[in-house]
Amino acid sequence: MSILTLGIESSCDETACAVIEDGRIVRSSMIASSADLQSQYGGVVPELASRMHVEAIVPCLETTMKQAGVDYSDLDAVCVTKGPGLVGALLVGVSAAKAICEVKGLPLVGVNHMAGHIAANYLTDPSWEPPFLCLVVSGGHSEILLVKDYTQLECICATRDDAAGEAFDKIARVIGLGYPGGPKLDKESKKGDPHAYSFPSPKISDSLDFSFSGIKTAALNTINQVRLKGEEIAISDFAASYQDAICSILCDRLEKAISLTGMKKICLAGGVSANSCLRSKVEKLAEKKKCALCLPKMAYCTDNAAMIASAGYYDYMRGVRDQLDLNAYPSLEWREEYGH
Ligand code: KG4
Ligand code: ZN
Repeated sequence: MSILTLGIESSCDETACAVIEDGRIVRSSMIASSADLQSQYGGVVPELASRMHVEAIVPCLETTMKQAGVDYSDLDAVCVTKGPGLVGALLVGVSAAKAICEVKGLPLVGVNHMAGHIAANYLTDPSWEPPFLCLVVSGGHSEILLVKDYTQLECICATRDDAAGEAFDKIARVIGLGYPGGPKLDKESKKGDPHAYSFPSPKISDSLDFSFSGIKTAALNTINQVRLKGEEIAISDFAASYQDAICSILCDRLEKAISLTGMKKICLAGGVSANSCLRSKVEKLAEKKKCALCLPKMAYCTDNAAMIASAGYYDYMRGVRDQLDLNAYPSLEWREEYGH
């Protein structure tokens, strides 16, 4: 008999619901995004995001269940993002999940958002299984993890300052591309020369850790210097060069992590894994290092609920059950649950 999990995600500006079979097969997946509205303000306004979630959550749930062709009584568990994320936004999803579980008598599973991003790979390649190395790059994360088992992670390296997504978003905003910056920078870069501008590489010699604050500051300095001269930077060239520099750093660390661990299986996770430059560099790296590769399907790179229902399935199978006092945990660390 197959196990059906309902996933609910509301950690940032996407209200998403999905029904997944056996942690892998997507029966339905819906996303209602407030990104267009948020873009008018240049970024996510937390209070606005919470209100949009309140409006979107019930229709999103109803449509998802209808599209999956299931009733609440057919479900085995309700899996919801409990953190990290915006507290008010998270609370909407957590409250909805608790209400369903209370009324329908279903088990509740609170899911770590980052574990969800990793699970995007299970939705992409049905045969993809741990152990593997995963480069997790999103608005809040830049880490290379050794995924030893579905619920056992080890950190190989992490960012010492900004996340890769933040580094993209900040510079995209400064050069006038708006919000959300990462995808816009990616699109703009396609018209540009990646060697037009040069950026410094981070000088961390004692570990594989990332640092993006130096490259971000160098980019800001270049923009300011050019503007002080009364000139404007060449947007496409600048976007392409900046993107290439960040993706080169990410790939360099991934290559070192492959050598360090001897792991011959690599994948990506998180919003930045949608980046075309990163995907093509990682593809080349996998070829060079003779590694098996999984690049998450575009639909599962950025925030969605299918990945939460998948990660929740693996938590559910190892016996994780939350009670109705489950809260939202804005600064949730994966180490508490998955670091052994
Ligand atoms: O995983 P995600 O949707 O939300 C978080 O958990 O943070 O990631 C959002 C981040 C944003 O910084 C966004 O700019 C970035 O992912 N992103 C991209 C692309 N698509 C999304 N960055 C670069 N290129 C893209 N194509
Ligand atoms: Zn995310």
